[in-house]
Amino acid sequence: MITASGIELRAGARILIENASFRIAKGDRIGLVGRNGAGKTTLTKCLAGEGVPAAGTIARSGDVGYLPQDPRTGDLDVLARDRILSARELDSVLRKMRENEERMANGKGATREKAMKKYERLETEFLTKGGYAAEAEAATIAAALGLPDRVLGQPLHTLSGGQRRRVELARILFSDADTLLLDEPTNHLDADSIVWLRDYLKTYRGGFIVISHDVDLVETVVNKVFYLDANRSQIDIYNMGWKLYQQQREADEKRRKRERQNAEKKAAALNSQADKMRAKATKTVAAQNMARRAERLLSGLEAVRVSDKVAKLRFPEPAPCGKTP
Ligand SMILES: Nc1ncnc2c1ncn2[C@@H]1O[C@H](COP(=O)(O)OP(=O)(O)O)[C@@H](O)[C@H]1O
Ligand SMILES: [Mg+2]
Repeated sequence: MITASGIELRAGARILIENASFRIAKGDRIGLVGRNGAGKTTLTKCLAGEGVPAAGTIARSGDVGYLPQDPRTGDLDVLARDRILSARELDSVLRKMRENEERMANGKGATREKAMKKYERLETEFLTKGGYAAEAEAATIAAALGLPDRVLGQPLHTLSGGQRRRVELARILFSDADTLLLDEPTNHLDADSIVWLRDYLKTYRGGFIVISHDVDLVETVVNKVFYLDANRSQIDIYNMGWKLYQQQREADEKRRKRERQNAEKKAAALNSQADKMRAKATKTVAAQNMARRAERLLSGLEAVRVSDKVAKLRFPEPAPCGKTP
């Protein structure tokens, strides 16, 4: 479980999120949405403990699996398979087992005896950590994410950026974490893998936050939506699935717009009344009060005033490329 209390996030001097409080508990399947640059990545980074909020606290209990938007750089000499298995600390046991297999095969007398005893101990440890079933499970997850056995046997530095990110995703899903933080997990996945991930997340027993542009995935998977409104620097929490969220948010935006128009109308009326009253010497104080009330009505609105900036791009008809492209 992750609990955020009164957190504030900034990018330089700019406030991304102000005074937000929420939890990610078991069974929460949260879709985190908001326009580009709203602060989704910054927020997940802080939730994972790889960043610190400017104010407020974040408390974590249980294991957290974090897939960052940008691939990590770590030890690139390890095999892809070992990287995945390291999530449950199976990699080191397996490596030692392999070493002792070697000694058993090549050694003689006491050396061989020792290696056999060591091997037995290691295998017991391996079995208590899930053993061969866990190794098979890791391979199944990896294959579903487009990483066949051949790739798993290669060191990370021979893999493409996309493959490495899939290794990280496989590692996190294999880790058995209580809470997942997935920042655009569908990037670098092909269509089949996306379908598989969707089904995997649908039945995940822990809690998670997922950031994704894949509407299909979000629509079928999430039971809550956190909308990061960059204009208001607020997180709006919708305890409902995707379809209902869309309706509810549209209603919320209409309501805010209506409230704004009402307030603006009232303020305009107050101001024009104040202007008339200012002409009379006996009413200047009343006029001032009225103008102040108008100002107060408008001051609460500033945050919602700006609408999302959406670029409209139009490309000219390209010239025909001719017979020889
Ligand atoms: N290292 C950084 N230094 C300064 N500003 C940053 C840095 N990283 C991101 N930002 C800014 O923070 C804002 C939020 O970015 P980000 O969290 O990546 O948003 P999102 O994931 O929602 O697209 C953006 O406006 C971005 O320009
Ligand atoms: Mg991002």
